Amino acid sequence: MNQPEKKDNPNKIEHLIGVMSGKGGVGKSTVTYLTAFALKQKGCRVGILDADITGASIPRIMHLPRYEMKVCGDFICPVETEQGLKVMSISFLVDNEEQPVIWRGPLLSRAIRQFWGEVLWGELDYLVIDMPPGTSDVAITVMQSFHLSGFIFVTTPQDLVSVVVARSMQMAERMKVPVIGLVENMSYFICPHCGEKTSFFGQEETARLARQFGTELIVQIPTSQEFARMPSDGLDLSSPLVSAVLDKLGQKIVEKLG
Ligand SMILES: Nc1ncnc2c1ncn2[C@@H]1O[C@H](COP(=O)(O)OP(=O)(O)OP(=O)(O)O)[C@@H](O)[C@H]1O
Ligand SMILES: [Mg+2]
Repeated sequence: MNQPEKKDNPNKIEHLIGVMSGKGGVGKSTVTYLTAFALKQKGCRVGILDADITGASIPRIMHLPRYEMKVCGDFICPVETEQGLKVMSISFLVDNEEQPVIWRGPLLSRAIRQFWGEVLWGELDYLVIDMPPGTSDVAITVMQSFHLSGFIFVTTPQDLVSVVVARSMQMAERMKVPVIGLVENMSYFICPHCGEKTSFFGQEETARLARQFGTELIVQIPTSQEFARMPSDGLDLSSPLVSAVLDKLGQKIVEKLG
């Protein structure tokens, strides 16, 4: 059970899961939201901590409107979405989404620790953390300060990506944070007209990465309009593709972490 040190802190969080890659733009934030939603569908109490302070995109990916943050005593209240997810992002604290956050490492690390210790998460089964790209300040803070149940690593099937993902997986190994598994995003494309499946990139990279780190591929997510449109239209629960991805994510994580 994870409990921040702040006095009278009522937070009780069973599992902290990081969603990491090392590489930018591969779908970490998309997978963070899908993972959180999948766990919510399983009946769990779930929060999302957006640890990408300088590139926050969780509120946009989740199709959330602007929210007024509320304070409860000494704590900041996370936003509670209609789907029942608790969310904290720097985007809720700035005047507008396009306002840059121009902070050096120590300030970023402090903000992350505050999002953990000074936000009233309450009792949660899972807190899913959307990591920024890279292996520097924020990644070090999250790995050192939080007692993580593990990381989900997001990759795409390109050698240029998998080499960067391998670096961040090695970082997790060195920092003794378990790897829950790999999510391969943008794995293939299915033509909406003729149904032909095209794999733009190779099909070996992720399997090789899984073998190298003794872990498994949790799910392959194709490049598709359902996911591309999430920031503008929300999560399309009527899509069999979205449901299949949510089912696999939820099932595998609950199976592994309980
Ligand atoms: N499977 C997919 N199919 C189509 N579009 C996708 C898919 N996955 C992600 N995208 C889109 O790709 C873009 C990048 O995704 P996302 O923001 O989740 O990546 P990220 O790894 O979090 O990026 P960053 O490193 O900037 O934080 C977004 O516009 C997202 O909607
Ligand atoms: Mg992101």
